Amino acid sequence: MKSYFSHLECTNCGKIYPSTAPIRICLSCSKVIYARYDLELARSKISKTIFTNRAPNMWRYFELLPIADQNNVVSLGEGFTPIHRADNLGKNLGLKNLLIKDESFNPTASFKARGMSAAVSKVKEFNIKEVTVPSAGNAGGALAAYAAKAGLQSHIFMPKDAPEATQKEVSITNATLNLVDGFINDAGVQSRSLADKKGMFDLSTLQEPYRAEGKKTMGYEIAEQLDWNLPDAIIYPTGGGTGIVGIWKAIKEMEQLGWISGKRPKMFCIQAEGCAPLVRAFSEKSRFAKVWENPKTIAAGMRVPSAIGDYLILDAIYESGGSAITVTDDEMIEFIKKTISLEGLFLCPEGAATVCASKKLLDLGLINKKDSILLLNTGSGFKYMEVV
Ligand SMILES: Cc1ncc(COP(=O)(O)O)c(C=O)c1O
Ligand SMILES: [Zn+2]
Repeated sequence: MKSYFSHLECTNCGKIYPSTAPIRICLSCSKVIYARYDLELARSKISKTIFTNRAPNMWRYFELLPIADQNNVVSLGEGFTPIHRADNLGKNLGLKNLLIKDESFNPTASFKARGMSAAVSKVKEFNIKEVTVPSAGNAGGALAAYAAKAGLQSHIFMPKDAPEATQKEVSITNATLNLVDGFINDAGVQSRSLADKKGMFDLSTLQEPYRAEGKKTMGYEIAEQLDWNLPDAIIYPTGGGTGIVGIWKAIKEMEQLGWISGKRPKMFCIQAEGCAPLVRAFSEKSRFAKVWENPKTIAAGMRVPSAIGDYLILDAIYESGGSAITVTDDEMIEFIKKTISLEGLFLCPEGAATVCASKKLLDLGLINKKDSILLLNTGSGFKYMEVV
């Protein structure tokens, strides 16, 4: 198989870099870099039917992933997670077409596995041996696992109040776990400082182009699993934003490939009431978000006071005609209980936030009861036993 990965491009100033350069953020403007593909060539050479008989994991989309040599792929079977029809829950909420894509099925029990599978594969291709990452919890657990599989040394920086399960899943590996007295941004400063000092590759969210490529496979899967039709709305729990921007990037790529057409889904960004920098920016019609002081929420993955990709997240919401709203911690717990009671799915608090948000968006008239609504449950409730 051949990847159509052609170059790297700054999402802000447009500067181009070769596909072989181990560059993290733009050297001119310090903004987010994306992997780009020769989609015209891909369109003429491959069709969406090639995936039908491939293994049910995210590497089925190898042609659209940024790895040159298939031998460098580091996989634990991530991706191709189920999309459940949540009819009982839908009935309870007044929604006729409610779907939940359940990312808890991934290795390490969260969608973070996708990003780390892609990034660790690329690090292997670069022949780099040590990596660092700041993490709210799940990304650290995922990196520890993929680094172990690849034989890399990893250094993980988590706020000391990160979920216990995610701390434990790192501490029982060969990774080093550094607990930070502060928020994920403080962990980020320490992660980058170690990487700079020791010549390691730092994998902070959207500060390198590869994790978002792994996350974008959620978008390819949503299309393929729904027979190349997209839902009317996608509701996403947002922290650093790799997931929502990855899905949006996938939609644009699939259009250029000629694999989908018609209306794009509205993208809804959900944050916690105690940490909502993007919701605030959206309400101010801004393209950039100010830092949220003193973030507080049980949903560790959404406890992110500022995101380097704020303009990419907000662009996706504005371009798609979506919106951004908040959910409280109490509501997350209520909807964890409601969802397991009606559907048998034990959602993470971030996933439960999307269920609650679907009800709020219906009440606000931002979605309709007949719309097909796809929620992302980004991880397993079993990693957050302390909140229930
Ligand atoms: C379970 C869970 N959901 C959502 C998020 C937010 O992810 P993103 O960076 O894609 O916004 C995280 C990030 O840590 C997470 O662990
Ligand atoms: Zn730039």
